[in-house]
Amino acid sequence: MSSITTRHFLQGAGMLLAGLLLAACGKQEPPAPAAGASAPAAAAPAPAKVYVVGTDAAYVPFESQNDKGEIVGFDIEIVKAVAQKAGIEVKFLNTPWEGIFNSLNQGDRDLLVSAITITAERKQTMDFSTPYFDAQQLIAVKKDSKIAKFNDLKKLKVGVQNGTTGDEVITKLQGKDSPNIKRFEATPLALKELEAGGVDAVVADNGVVEHYVNNNSGTQFKTIADASFAPEQYGLAVKKGNTELLEKLNKGLADIKADGTYDKIYAQYFGKAPAAAATAGTASAPAAAASPAK
Ligand code: ARG
Repeated sequence: MSSITTRHFLQGAGMLLAGLLLAACGKQEPPAPAAGASAPAAAAPAPAKVYVVGTDAAYVPFESQNDKGEIVGFDIEIVKAVAQKAGIEVKFLNTPWEGIFNSLNQGDRDLLVSAITITAERKQTMDFSTPYFDAQQLIAVKKDSKIAKFNDLKKLKVGVQNGTTGDEVITKLQGKDSPNIKRFEATPLALKELEAGGVDAVVADNGVVEHYVNNNSGTQFKTIADASFAPEQYGLAVKKGNTELLEKLNKGLADIKADGTYDKIYAQYFGKAPAAAATAGTASAPAAAASPAK
């Protein structure tokens, strides 16, 4: 209902603006802001709608909270850049993964950015932008682990974030009632459990697993890629039917891809060209080449 009000308001403001412009053109001079009486009318365009972006900010390097409590990361930079191109204002709210899709459905969030894989199932309940990132599942194990491939996890304890595509693949391998699947509310919790020895492996998105393994100075981990993992793509999610916002986002995405902004942000976070990451090879390369430092 608030959107209807806003739209009417915007329409009204648009007509007002058009009127002012016509008046200005007729007089062949720009509307002078000097006069006290006319200034407030001209200076009071519709307050721009601020789009609320939900993100599960426990997913370095895509979204996380820094020391100051600010939400930062690759996804955040992407949405900020998209918003700028689209001419919309956004604000980010930390939103636990568990309720993230519901928050969209209920209108508490206008869009979601959360390294969300576009899946056929999710497409039934929300709409996705054009893809903005290629990803794949990746396995993390301790350095001395004998696990060599995904199938080796059949009877082992595996940690995943509940309701993610990592959860999906292991559920498919072990069966949904397997007592060996340990589902956590957040991916860092699953990784902590791996560190503590409570699970034999963690299955999660390659970008997050790689970042964790490369930045963990304590226990040594290694990654295992597996050809059986299907390629995944991340998208921005909006409420089903919100084509107005979706079009803005898609246009913004196209713009930042076209003018090099996307590549710049990508290189900043992943230190290489996006084209490389678009291939399935990326996931396996670091795993094979990991030769863990002694
Ligand atoms: N890409 C995976 C999925 O869509 C995991 C995303 C988890 N994102 C997060 N911010 N916790 O299921």
